[in-house]
Amino acid sequence: MPSSTEPTVAPVKDAIVSIRNLTKTYGNGFRALNGVDLDIEKGEILALLGPNGAGKTTMISIVCGLVNPDHGSKVMVGGHDVVRDFRQTRALIGLVPQELTTDQFETVWNTVSFSRGVYGLKPDPARIEQILKDLSLWSKKDNMMRELSGGMKRRVLIAKALSHEPKVLFLDEPTAGVDVTLRRDMWLVVEKLREAGVTIILTTHYIEEAEEIADRVGVINGGKLLLIEDKAALMQKLGSKQLRLELTAPLGAIPASLADLGLSLEDAGRTLVHEYKGGEGEERIGALMAGLSKENIHFRDLSTRQSSLEDIFVALVEKKDDVGKTTAVGMNAGEKA
Ligand SMILES: Nc1ncnc2c1ncn2[C@@H]1O[C@H](COP(=O)(O)OP(=O)(O)OP(=O)(O)O)[C@@H](O)[C@H]1O
Ligand SMILES: [Mg+2]
Repeated sequence: MPSSTEPTVAPVKDAIVSIRNLTKTYGNGFRALNGVDLDIEKGEILALLGPNGAGKTTMISIVCGLVNPDHGSKVMVGGHDVVRDFRQTRALIGLVPQELTTDQFETVWNTVSFSRGVYGLKPDPARIEQILKDLSLWSKKDNMMRELSGGMKRRVLIAKALSHEPKVLFLDEPTAGVDVTLRRDMWLVVEKLREAGVTIILTTHYIEEAEEIADRVGVINGGKLLLIEDKAALMQKLGSKQLRLELTAPLGAIPASLADLGLSLEDAGRTLVHEYKGGEGEERIGALMAGLSKENIHFRDLSTRQSSLEDIFVALVEKKDDVGKTTAVGMNAGEKA
């Protein structure tokens, strides 16, 4: 278990992005990041979750070389320092920024193609055509940016980020305010990129999105990385399960013989709830069933529920606010749950 003095960084096999002791204090004295350690593995999809103002965009901006970190921070991409070797690192990175920023009086085609030149790559019209088609932008290629809707502009930003064949792609809230079709297009593009070996880091407020597509999930709040975990392991470690039994007759209290099984009553005694964590409590289900039968308690229906990433996220973020501690909170929250 990490303590507040140990770094939270989890070792990875082949890090393409390596962040050590990343701290950022803005000009007005506000500390947006505070000692973040993080390795991002080549080829993974990492989802960063965190409430508004957590520091996600600040972190991405630093990795992309757009914002300078405080002295003592070290951020490497592909083995190069993002401050010292800015041009080398930037060429490896594609960024879809959170804010829509494009030249309103340029065409879609030019906006997307020009990016290659900026990174010193030869024009590749066939590639640009494919990208525009993948993002359903082909019919708009000759339109000016100002003639596009908000969601279409976001597609152009994605196309632009892909035009110079980045090895690492940052998507900063790419699905905020976009429709279902774009989301689907985008995840198809992300899937294709992953197959091509591109490393993808996305921030999102849609937890179900992280749950669906990420290999690993990081939670950031108050400028600290509270947790970074393999998604499946996280769900297993922190997720709790519930078995709910709808009783044929309400119970006034839990019988003494079942007191040790972690039961509670809801719905005026009509629903018996057994809460347990994956693994440990499962064998208790057998004991519960035998005990119910012995006590002559019958049920007409049963359902189970597994806690989601959302429950984990909310518990983490709220926990942090409660106790004012940060680094070790992740695991503690899970163990106590
Ligand atoms: N240029 C700046 N000067 C001063 N403070 C800033 C600046 N940019 C960001 N901040 C502050 O740093 C904190 C982190 O901001 P950041 O944009 O990184 O958050 P975020 O996690 O991306 O949030 P959101 O989910 O809303 O996009 C916020 O409190 C923000 O007000
Ligand atoms: Mg942001």
